[in-house]
Amino acid sequence: MTQATLHPSEIRLDDPAIFEEGRAHEVFRILRREAPVHWTPETENVKGFWSLTKYEDIVHVSRNPQIFSSERGITSFEPKEPDLNDVGTRLYGKMIITMDPPRHVRMRRLVNKGFTPRAVAAWEPHIREITNHILDGIAKKGEADFVTEVAALLPLAVICEIMGVPREDWEKMFQYTNQVLGGGDPEFQTDVPEELRGTPEGARQQINLGTAKMFQYFATKLAEHRAQPKEDLVQVLLESEVDGQKLTDEDILWFCFLLILAGNETTRNAIAGGLLALLEHPEEKQKILDNPGIMPIATEEIVRWTSPVLHMARVAKEDVEIRGVTIRKGERVVMWYPSANRDEDIFPDPYRFDVTRQPNDHIAFGIGEHYCLGANFARLEIRVMFEELFRRFPDIELAGPPARLRSTFIGGIKHLPVRFTPEA
Ligand code: HEM
Repeated sequence: MTQATLHPSEIRLDDPAIFEEGRAHEVFRILRREAPVHWTPETENVKGFWSLTKYEDIVHVSRNPQIFSSERGITSFEPKEPDLNDVGTRLYGKMIITMDPPRHVRMRRLVNKGFTPRAVAAWEPHIREITNHILDGIAKKGEADFVTEVAALLPLAVICEIMGVPREDWEKMFQYTNQVLGGGDPEFQTDVPEELRGTPEGARQQINLGTAKMFQYFATKLAEHRAQPKEDLVQVLLESEVDGQKLTDEDILWFCFLLILAGNETTRNAIAGGLLALLEHPEEKQKILDNPGIMPIATEEIVRWTSPVLHMARVAKEDVEIRGVTIRKGERVVMWYPSANRDEDIFPDPYRFDVTRQPNDHIAFGIGEHYCLGANFARLEIRVMFEELFRRFPDIELAGPPARLRSTFIGGIKHLPVRFTPEA
């Protein structure tokens, strides 16, 4: 059956192949038109969930945390029998992204200062320096895997510096984050037996193992910081109090876990997906080459177009209706950002990649009180990367097809072969 004839009842948004094969936008177009509040039925071990694909509905849910809670996890996945050994269950209520008011606001306030537009702007010269250092690494080769050799390295370096992770450990952080957020992709299931790779059990084990390594790593950091205080975000957290109480080690470890994952896996895919879009739309790339001053506007379009976080979920705290469909208390509601950001009711000509698009009220960074803490960093990294990349390699082009991540949560690109005229 072809996409055009797909009926909503045949669509399962728990199927990572939709995203891995780059078919998501066709599926979302059908759902927005025919079933904007859509049910993916349960499987043997996993609960069913509602999917929202219209912009206005996603804004409504995000703005009403008193009804739509983040506490029971923010992905579509909810096992019928939760296992407390699984990170997917253990994280309930533990990180700011899985907290509701009022605790959410109090915890977020502890780190906010480092992420304001002003604080982030001060990083620009340094981010430009890191970017050029990364580009030096490919400059003479004339070809590269743009993801592993360029796009992944900038967000990795920035979040590691914010958190005081020394350079010799960056590669480790890269592996661990891949193993957690990319744990459903066989390429990153390196710690599980061969026969389990590519299975749900393989994903479960890999995600748990990646998480354990990350926690172990940061537990050692906490001990080091206590012995010798440093100037980084981990130190800020160690010295912070909420309601007169110091954070527990567990609180701090979850914070570190969230920041490393969120800082790494998202911006990487905006940069890689952004380059792919620009190379597939040479007239748009040319506009940036002719006028690099449009990069702040182009950055918004890159983020709208790529929407690297595919979804966030909430759980209904009471029976509630959306577009006449009743959502029962306890049911999971999944908000699909790539769909909201192509909603015909909001964006004129939404399938047109337009680096001069204005206004551009995309919600790729979410909306409401969980609005992305790192949005200012992400924007700066994307802008500086394309400014420097196109200044040094204006003729960069695709040298092969992209390899996409097998995930329903992160819209990832694992590999993107490119070539360009090497620097002398
Ligand atoms: C293009 C890049 C990025 C995208 C598309 C993105 C997307 C998002 C989205 C959609 C949310 C909302 C969650 C919700 O409503 O449940 C969010 C929250 C968050 N993001 Fe980002 N993000 C990006 C980059 C970053 C970076 C670079 C960092 C860290 C430096 C970061 C840290 C966070 C944190 C900590 C939260 C939780 C905020 C809260 O719960 O109050 N993100 N992000």
